[in-house]
Amino acid sequence: MDLPFPDAPALAGNAALAARDLKHVWHPCTQMHDHETVPMVPVVRGEGAWLVDADGRRYLDGISSWWTNLFGHANPRLAAALADQARRLEHVIFAGFTHAPAIELAEELVRVTPPGLDRVFFADNGSAAVEVALKMSFHYWLNQGHGGKTRFIALTGSYHGETLGALSVSDVALYRKTYAPLLLTPILAPSPDAYEADPGETPAQVAARRLGELRALLERHAQETCAVIVEPLVQCAGGMRMYHPDYLAGLRRLCDEFGVHFIADEIAVGFGRTGTLFACEQAGVAPDFMCLSKGLTGGTLPLSVVLTTEAVYAAFYAEYNAGKAFLHSHSYTGNPLACRVALETLAIFRDEPVLERNRILAAHLAQRLAPLRNHPHVADVRQTGMIAAVELVADKRNRTPWPAAERRGMRVYLHGLQHGALLRPLGNVVYFMPPYVVTTGEIDQLVDVAVAGIERAVA
Ligand SMILES: Cc1ncc(COP(=O)(O)O)c(C=O)c1O
Repeated sequence: MDLPFPDAPALAGNAALAARDLKHVWHPCTQMHDHETVPMVPVVRGEGAWLVDADGRRYLDGISSWWTNLFGHANPRLAAALADQARRLEHVIFAGFTHAPAIELAEELVRVTPPGLDRVFFADNGSAAVEVALKMSFHYWLNQGHGGKTRFIALTGSYHGETLGALSVSDVALYRKTYAPLLLTPILAPSPDAYEADPGETPAQVAARRLGELRALLERHAQETCAVIVEPLVQCAGGMRMYHPDYLAGLRRLCDEFGVHFIADEIAVGFGRTGTLFACEQAGVAPDFMCLSKGLTGGTLPLSVVLTTEAVYAAFYAEYNAGKAFLHSHSYTGNPLACRVALETLAIFRDEPVLERNRILAAHLAQRLAPLRNHPHVADVRQTGMIAAVELVADKRNRTPWPAAERRGMRVYLHGLQHGALLRPLGNVVYFMPPYVVTTGEIDQLVDVAVAGIERAVA
């Protein structure tokens, strides 16, 4: 019988670590059975945009290790900040106690995020931040005497994390459908995804049309709706689907008109990914809640925050027995090590022309990917800043996707491993989200491997 991935690389020297791993470890987002044929890669160190395995093989990290890494692996500035903080204070309960790294980080985040986001609530991962934002929005309305607001509007194709609340407002069937009986039922608004444009329609026109549909939903449901939650500009896990900033501007206006919150989940797109420090800037809007994680610590440690307004904060501020406090907590809330590394991450943005450099890198990536537009199995090549995606299809004329069961993207992944690149397609979407320290030469390498991988995948 043919193995499903007959050309999986033989990583003999990694074998011992991989075997030990597979004896006890249960990995995330993985059908562990795949590892009967797909290699488990034990990474021993990282440097810049590269990961190095136990056999000394190097992999260019084309996906910034799940979109977390900004300034390279084992970044010396971040490592030094972490080591220094570890010698002073590793952790302290964050209720009743505080510390300089959290205070300074809150000050700095208020300074760099869109105006009006003056309150910072800490958590420790992206999904937890989404939980906080959802609960806080609901609780705000409750405290204001609007307990009938219990629902959320989310976009089709959205992804906000895997905990039950975050998964509730996500619309990627692969992750959601199994757990659907456990989840809240969101009101789904059609995504402004430009890939779904009608013939001849521009991305701005798609945004306008989708805002009309959102308005209709709000007209029916605003009374019962706490918030609209979106991933600004790029719906990442849903296949790197991208949309026009006009949608965010219109969303802000509609939320104000109908009295619902706007939650911007910038967990994946924040910190320069889309070309601006935060994606919302491209629409000139400030949300009521902004969730940040991933790049917040440059990819070094888990940390997340929810920024919100003074008005939201004020709705919880009352004498204790009024019972209005937000009693949500995580043990590692505001961890000093993570906060200190986050501060150093923001310092790098201040000290170095990161966004300017990214513009050059993004232009180079765009130029290298452009020829793929003519490929007979590529329906779309799209890009927003340092996120680029190539949509593979079985039939280009009618954009028929490859059946998911054929796992074409997995073939690209395996080709990448064999040729020194970490590419991890989302279904039929091959995407690029490299660390900002990547060079144009490394982008060339990444694209060359991806193009060869795509040829193998569609063969
Ligand atoms: C937009 C968005 N929100 C939330 C999350 C969840 O973050 P975490 O994986 O840290 O729970 C992710 C993770 O990919 C994400 O892309």
